[in-house]
Amino acid sequence: MVKAATKAEAIFTRAPAAHVIDKTTDDGIFEKPGRAKPGHELLRVSTGRAVVIVPVLQRSHANDGVRDSPGAAVVTHSPDDRLTEATGLAEAIDLEIADARVVGITTPRPSTLFGKGKVEELRLLVEETGAGLVIVDHAITPVQQSNLEKAWNAKVLDRTGLILEIFGRRARTREGRLQVELAHLTYQKGRLVRAWTHLERQRGGGGFLGGPGEAQLELDRRILETRIESIKRELAQVVKTRELHRAGRRKVPYPIVAIVGYTNAGKSTLFNLVTGAAVLAKDQVFATLDPTMREVKLRSGRRIILSDTVGFISSLPTMLVAAFRATLEEVIEADLILHVRDISHPETDAQAADVEGVLSDLGVDTVPAHSHILEVWNKIDLLSPVTREEATNMSRFQERRPALVSAITGDGIPELLDAIDTRLGASDAVLDVTLPAHDGRLLAWVHENTDVLTRTTDEVTGALRLTLRTTPENKARLEAQLRKSTDNR
Ligand code: GTP
Repeated sequence: MVKAATKAEAIFTRAPAAHVIDKTTDDGIFEKPGRAKPGHELLRVSTGRAVVIVPVLQRSHANDGVRDSPGAAVVTHSPDDRLTEATGLAEAIDLEIADARVVGITTPRPSTLFGKGKVEELRLLVEETGAGLVIVDHAITPVQQSNLEKAWNAKVLDRTGLILEIFGRRARTREGRLQVELAHLTYQKGRLVRAWTHLERQRGGGGFLGGPGEAQLELDRRILETRIESIKRELAQVVKTRELHRAGRRKVPYPIVAIVGYTNAGKSTLFNLVTGAAVLAKDQVFATLDPTMREVKLRSGRRIILSDTVGFISSLPTMLVAAFRATLEEVIEADLILHVRDISHPETDAQAADVEGVLSDLGVDTVPAHSHILEVWNKIDLLSPVTREEATNMSRFQERRPALVSAITGDGIPELLDAIDTRLGASDAVLDVTLPAHDGRLLAWVHENTDVLTRTTDEVTGALRLTLRTTPENKARLEAQLRKSTDNR
């Protein structure tokens, strides 16, 4: 955890340049007047056309590059894959991608990241395409951002800024929106402080590029702090309510099955298919932000609560993971975690390692032998017959056999549900019970809550003899109800 925090800090302290906080209002996430809206700057400056750049550093500087998710093993995403992902992220906020390219960097420049020639080449590109925004899929310093914006005459957004923007657009519950706002304001505050410290050193105070002066920065900082404090209070209240809900749920001893996975793996599609619920599912990253829960009845009669959670992504700043900790607690507390993977994706293994990195950061045991994770290899419909055969064979050799499914065609879904049933049923008890003939209510309860395997009627007394399978919790409840029923006779 300590290591992860340091990584996140690295991302955030190397954050983009300070900007005066926009205090205009709109109908976005911050509806109250006088509040800053994350990404508002972006909306204001951008023409809607964006250029996406994936800087690839020479090997000796590789560690300066985009960081993989905290706690993850060393994972390498190919430049092309990073380009596809960054483009997908940009499209997720409705930007029109005018150009997307990988740009090699021999030596990272402290002032502009890219060398002089590259900066000029990209300036021409921005000019030609008429883009108002350049997304740099990399951590950039305040100075770099400021200089690049000047050179390109366009707004520059780094990876963290982009992820925050997406989280902001995707948040569906009040808690989610507050969490994003908090993360964003903390991020902005860091940028203000950093930029000021830097200016102090460089110029001994005074203005900078026509930007905010000392008084303005101080004012902005105070506005941010006040807002941060008030969000923290609001969040504490929301978390209390969530705790109450959770306590209520605990009384209904249905196991929680949480769906996790890399962004775009097909979590919402799977959730919708299984529950028939209408949760937003688009070919966009982060279509899911807040957990959505639905009750599902399995073939054995076991009821579960299926929970759709946030999409993970490489380089998800630890600070954001921290902001979503309350949301992700659903995952930590889950009885079973379904790790949905897009098995047709060329980077599927790297993506899986990213997800496991985030999970282990949350304190989830990811060692296959004793973990409560069930891998779901999704999108098998996209595999060629040969690759599908290979995947099936490979799955047989996994310590915990994954379920192969297609959330689009429904292939493998019954087998997945049975696998969930079996995994959850490891501690089930098989009981022989005799129910008094008069107790119709108890019989109804038994049918509703347990898996009745056999049923015979005693010809003399009319009592029912049942063999049933049930969870330890329901076994205890049944025993208590049986005692009551006998006492009442
Ligand atoms: P985030 O919310 O961004 O984390 O995404 P997600 O994991 O919830 O993915 P989602 O369900 O939104 O699916 C992403 C895209 O993949 C959508 O276009 C789906 O239609 C598509 N998809 C999901 N499952 C399958 C599948 O089994 N086969 C195929 N061909 N496409 C799929």
